[in-house]
Amino acid sequence: MSLPPPIPPPSLATPPKARPTELPIRQIPGSHGWPLLGPLSDRLDYFWFQKPENFFRTRMDKYKSTVFRTNVPPTFPFFTNVNPNIIAVLDCKSFSHLFDMDLVDKRDVLVGDFVPSVEFTGNIRVGVYQDVSEPQHAKAKNFSMNILKQSSSIWVPELISNLDIFLDQIEATLSNSSSASYFSPLQKFLFTFLSKVLARADPSLDPKIAESGSSMLNKWLAVQLLPTVSVGTIQPLEEIFLHSFSYPYALVSGDYKNLYNFIKQHGKEVIKSGTEFGLSEDEAIHNLLFVLGFNSYGGFSIFLPKLIESIANGPTGLQEKLRKEAREKGGSTLGFDSLKELELINSVVYETLRMNPPVPLQFGRARKDFQLSSYDFAFNVKKGELLCGFQKLVMRDPVVFDEPEQFKPERFTKEKGAELLNYLYWSNGPQTGSPTVSNKQCAGKDIVTFTAALIVAHLLRRYDLIKGDGSSITALRKAK
Ligand code: HEM
Repeated sequence: MSLPPPIPPPSLATPPKARPTELPIRQIPGSHGWPLLGPLSDRLDYFWFQKPENFFRTRMDKYKSTVFRTNVPPTFPFFTNVNPNIIAVLDCKSFSHLFDMDLVDKRDVLVGDFVPSVEFTGNIRVGVYQDVSEPQHAKAKNFSMNILKQSSSIWVPELISNLDIFLDQIEATLSNSSSASYFSPLQKFLFTFLSKVLARADPSLDPKIAESGSSMLNKWLAVQLLPTVSVGTIQPLEEIFLHSFSYPYALVSGDYKNLYNFIKQHGKEVIKSGTEFGLSEDEAIHNLLFVLGFNSYGGFSIFLPKLIESIANGPTGLQEKLRKEAREKGGSTLGFDSLKELELINSVVYETLRMNPPVPLQFGRARKDFQLSSYDFAFNVKKGELLCGFQKLVMRDPVVFDEPEQFKPERFTKEKGAELLNYLYWSNGPQTGSPTVSNKQCAGKDIVTFTAALIVAHLLRRYDLIKGDGSSITALRKAK
């Protein structure tokens, strides 16, 4: 299928403007329902009766529109200060308005209208919650991009050596068991690796952190995000106990202080570079901890199991092709230069991100009244309304992606694949865009896909065969 000419490839350099459109105007379908009852009923559908993907899908079918009004959690009874009303944008064209900083304000909308208490981040609003119009955003974003630049010389060796430790552990488990669950060792690997490259802080220097750093981060993440995520416990217990109120920071204050002190003591060099971008020492530590613990550790913890599953449980013959590419084209030692040769591996990484975007929801608040266009209609959006994109459906937009529900390992190869990267939005911007202080695209956009491709290449150079799924490895055959 060739892409339809009327959709300009959205890029961060030339975001789609609120241009006058020739499309017919349609009133935004759907409703927010009765006060309290509408949001409560939508919340129960979202978490319980339908689950997020079906929640959006059923409404999209019902209204025959990829743009509609609904509510998203958290809501009634104890989130009285949260407004759950949103306008869903579920196709590539309407979703890409979220990248236009003239149209949307990204202040305090990371997870919707609900904002976890600032106590979780040392009583400061870290960069991720700031809009591009706030001076503090540029300081924090420059700091995070600089952290990545500074770490480039140690990124690959640290990745490979820590990955090998993780794989040795899985092999040891498999030597006396038929299956090795890998989530917890994977998180330990991520915590050590990311602490070393991003904060230049070695967890082994602090026994408490070496032992429990990753579980401290897990608790800190869970307590902040519980009101907004489905965890799959028995209903209605989940609705009553996990989704009805926020848990207090006090539950994780000891853990956060331990992590803060670890970074303060062992990450001095990186903290100092933060102060050079105009952040106070305290702001640098909290921002660094957030980028490390929330963005990087949180993001990779969700993404890597999906990636491992794509390889270990992928279509017949895929592993063989990937193995051939990793061995024949990766060079004698894997590194940044290997990347451009690994076309199929990169494509599998992109396809995994398309099918399973690790941060599924993105939000933006209309800065002014404007016209939002989808393919067939334009819709009037009022200043202050909250747009919400659910990436899992946006990335399956049938106008853009051929057989969108299929995992197609080669989708992002060749010329057509390169063009499709304009529509791969997992990083809150197209894969062809670049993070800057003037946008809200993920600062780690390139290092994330690079790291993922390197992990795949390393796995396939180390093993002739890998079997498993999103939580366990069941067979590993070492390369001869
Ligand atoms: C698999 C891993 C990752 C995923 C899935 C991910 C995803 C995202 C997404 C979706 C956003 C935009 C959120 C929004 O505003 O709606 C974002 C922002 C951000 N990410 Fe990532 N990210 C990952 C890893 C990283 C890494 C390794 C870094 C390291 C520097 C990083 C740094 C940031 C920063 C600083 C922002 C805020 C950008 C801004 O305020 O302008 N992320 N990330």
